[in-house]
Amino acid sequence: VTAKGRRLRFLALSGSLRSASTNTALLEATRLLAPPHIDVTLFRGLAALPLFNPDHDHGERPLPPAAAGLRAEVGASDALLIACPEYAHGVPGSFKNALDWLVGGPEFPGKPVALFQGTTRGSHVRASLEDILATMSGRIVSDACLAIHLVGQVTTAEDLAADGALAPMIRKALLSLGQAVGSGPVPKPTEAAD
Ligand SMILES: Cc1cc2nc3c(=O)[nH]c(=O)nc-3n(C[C@H](O)[C@H](O)[C@H](O)COP(=O)(O)O)c2cc1C
Repeated sequence: VTAKGRRLRFLALSGSLRSASTNTALLEATRLLAPPHIDVTLFRGLAALPLFNPDHDHGERPLPPAAAGLRAEVGASDALLIACPEYAHGVPGSFKNALDWLVGGPEFPGKPVALFQGTTRGSHVRASLEDILATMSGRIVSDACLAIHLVGQVTTAEDLAADGALAPMIRKALLSLGQAVGSGPVPKPTEAAD
């Protein structure tokens, strides 16, 4: 329980749809390792999101239920954990699509974000996500970010959570993200991209 007397809610978003995704396993391990005052929930709806269309943002059409669900889950969370692979030096289209559905809503701006990477490569996607999330007025918490090399390893969330070197790093990142909740600047709407 926090100083405000309630548990913190972190929403974990994996940018990989792969069933054996290392990024998803990393986030699932994070859920397993969360201290009692933090709930980590994995967002499971990435593949169900329709392709983004701005018509839905301007009231010409209602939001598709899957996009409304994503916005509601983001809105109900105190912070986000994002773990995303790099595809051809960029953000996977499916994940960028999810981010685009968040641009027009009030839920994301000001939200503390931790970037987790299941690889120590992937510098392009890291830089790209930092730029995109800053443009969306997200607040990347550098103390809560981590990158570890899992690529090519057959690993499960349970194995990762039991890893004596990794588990303390994940717990520390969660605590850093928790400290960032409520300590940031007042949220402002998404900045116009240029
Ligand atoms: C289509 C495709 C393109 C990729 N392009 C890159 C790349 O440009 N740079 C890189 O470091 N890794 C690249 N990779 C490797 C993935 O980023 C890496 O294996 C990632 O950790 C997989 O994440 P996952 O296990 O969560 O699915 C690519 C993988 C795929 C499938």
